[in-house]
Amino acid sequence: MVLSGAGISAESGIKTFRDANGLWENHDIMQVATPEGWEENPDLVLSFYNKRRQQLKEVQPNAAHFALKELEEYFEVSIITQNVDDLHERAGSKSVIHLHGELLKVRSSVNENEVLYWPNDLNIGDFCSQGKQLRPHIVWFGEAVPMLELAIPKVTQADIIIIVGTSMQVYPAAGLVDYAAQKTPIYVINLNPHTQSKGNIFVYPEKASLALPKLVKELKKQA
Ligand code: OAD
Repeated sequence: MVLSGAGISAESGIKTFRDANGLWENHDIMQVATPEGWEENPDLVLSFYNKRRQQLKEVQPNAAHFALKELEEYFEVSIITQNVDDLHERAGSKSVIHLHGELLKVRSSVNENEVLYWPNDLNIGDFCSQGKQLRPHIVWFGEAVPMLELAIPKVTQADIIIIVGTSMQVYPAAGLVDYAAQKTPIYVINLNPHTQSKGNIFVYPEKASLALPKLVKELKKQA
């Protein structure tokens, strides 16, 4: 099981969250990633995610994403990502759960089960089948994380866990690791790690694009 966060996509050119003083691409997270922000200024929120969707077309998966794809040749790999980009999928990974939603999807603002693929701009006046405004398919702060139910069994069943590029500050995602069986080896890859190597925890304080290919090479020997 792999838990990934913004750090894995940083080297593709997508900014992380907490390395920018609470700003996300120069915006206050509370204005663009909360239901209150959406209610207050839907134009701003739509334009923010339209820019992110455009940016996604200009970036490519990096060596870290491709290393995880390679791991599938030797192991059954489940990726649980906090990222809303599609770089794991574009690298070829088969099993990806997006805990915090997906940039390339939108959903009805009155029926969370009406989800549509939406690669281009979303505008005021783009409606769902019930004639209500569509919104980005993103889990905003204060909202439930429905994919958690799918993610938990992946963690409890994991023989090996890799945590890459996440500050482990946002719950419930950060709490997922508590579902791991005792003694499951946990590999942590982070430029500024939040933990140290001890017992079953092995920390690689390096860039994901360097550390993940190295780790995959090591794990291949165990397969
Ligand atoms: P953060 O921005 O909180 O953390 C990114 C982590 O990646 C930091 O710990 C960095 O040290 C590390 N990092 C940066 N560059 C790296 C690199 N090249 N290689 C390895 N590590 C690197 O991002 P997340 O933990 O993903 O939620 O944030 C969690 C959630 O908070 C996001 O999904 C988002 C945000 O608010 C929503 O939008 C709902």
